[in-house]
Amino acid sequence: MRLFKIALITLGYIALIGCGSPENIDTTENDEQARDYSSIFSSLPTTSIYPSNNPYNETKEYLGELLYWDPILSGDQNVSCASCHHPDFGWADGRKFSIGSDGIGLGPARYGFEVTPLHAPTIMNVAFTGINSSEMIENFVSGGYFWDLRADTLEEQALGPIKNPIEMLGYNMSEQEILPEIVIRLQSIPEYVELFELAFAEKAAITSVNIAKAIATFERKIISPNTRFDNFLLGDQTILTQQEIIGLNKFIDGGCARCHKGSMLSDNLLHEGEAIIANKVVRTPSLRNISFTAPYMHDGSRESLIDAIAAYEDRGDIDVNIEDDDFNDIATFLKTLDTDKFYTGKPAKVPSNLPVGGNID
Ligand code: HEC
Ligand code: HEC
Repeated sequence: MRLFKIALITLGYIALIGCGSPENIDTTENDEQARDYSSIFSSLPTTSIYPSNNPYNETKEYLGELLYWDPILSGDQNVSCASCHHPDFGWADGRKFSIGSDGIGLGPARYGFEVTPLHAPTIMNVAFTGINSSEMIENFVSGGYFWDLRADTLEEQALGPIKNPIEMLGYNMSEQEILPEIVIRLQSIPEYVELFELAFAEKAAITSVNIAKAIATFERKIISPNTRFDNFLLGDQTILTQQEIIGLNKFIDGGCARCHKGSMLSDNLLHEGEAIIANKVVRTPSLRNISFTAPYMHDGSRESLIDAIAAYEDRGDIDVNIEDDDFNDIATFLKTLDTDKFYTGKPAKVPSNLPVGGNID
């Protein structure tokens, strides 16, 4: 049966190539057959995109990686970005809520009292936040960060956690004091002085603006394109199993793709009154590499992928229609957006000689 269907799909595809007309793809909305998805989804670009005011160079990316892992950026020199966005947890932290400035340990084992009010999203693919299609690369400006979209750029986002007492600042310094203090700290470390000068080709290059630019450049390295779903969209029609295609069709017919669409499976818009949990207005998260970033939702309230999908049962109010025997098919489809081929490097040491990543051991 399955082989027969694949053969049919392949035939349809060959017919499509043959006369170059999308009409030959099955448009009867059959639940079990592949359709033309090109108006809904698009593959992810395979290389990152850098804004014109912060172009890529290798030294900048390397410097950004060191800063990302160096607790020198925190008030009490004990927390780094990696304390909450760590490669072992899909560049998130595997927790419902994150523990910041007084935390010890990593992931679910981390403990402390300074708890963030929101669940930490992954930093994977943030270079592409806001992208609709892989054709958008020319002049694309990524944007719309945080659950409430309050930061426009990664550069703007990067200084947020540093100034936040719960996340990195702690309580021994004020929001106004921390960035000048960090600049002084970094200036006293020759390796940083040299790297900043090289990365930005200017004297006195250690500024908060350049700290943010370097971190953002490193974040743009962490992408996860080339998933099975990307290859499917690019034309490899045999790469998905029958159940995955059924799940994909249910995802569309159930109303999910109204918000989870484009290259990121997210419109990156806020959904007023439609947020799935607790009637809070939050932006649609990407569903890429979803298996790596449990728990789910802005409040981390859904422990597994099935739980997250089940949140949509009986949601006629947001025009979503799925039933419990759809959950598994949809989950199976969503896993075609997983790939473990993303960067997971960790520096062996950081220039401050503080513990790499902060108090995470
Ligand atoms: C204590 C844990 C913690 C630390 C430390 C931390 N973050 Fe986050 N991060 C979070 C949480 C929680 C959110 C969601 C906050 C929100 O939406 O208001 C977040 C959101 C983000 C986002 C937005 C992602 C998106 O898709 O919108 C980025 C990017 C990010 N952090 C990068 C960083 C960087 C860079 C650093 C270091 C300078 C850092 N974080 C330090 C917990 C942390
Ligand atoms: C009206 C827009 C909209 C529709 C339709 C929609 N979603 Fe969502 N989705 C969101 C928003 C907004 C969130 C974040 C909600 C929250 O954090 O409380 C979300 C979160 C999720 C998450 C958790 C992602 C994460 O990383 O935390 C999954 C999984 C998900 N949606 C799957 C689906 C499925 C499956 C459907 C169809 C049954 C669907 N969505 C329909 C907007 C939508």
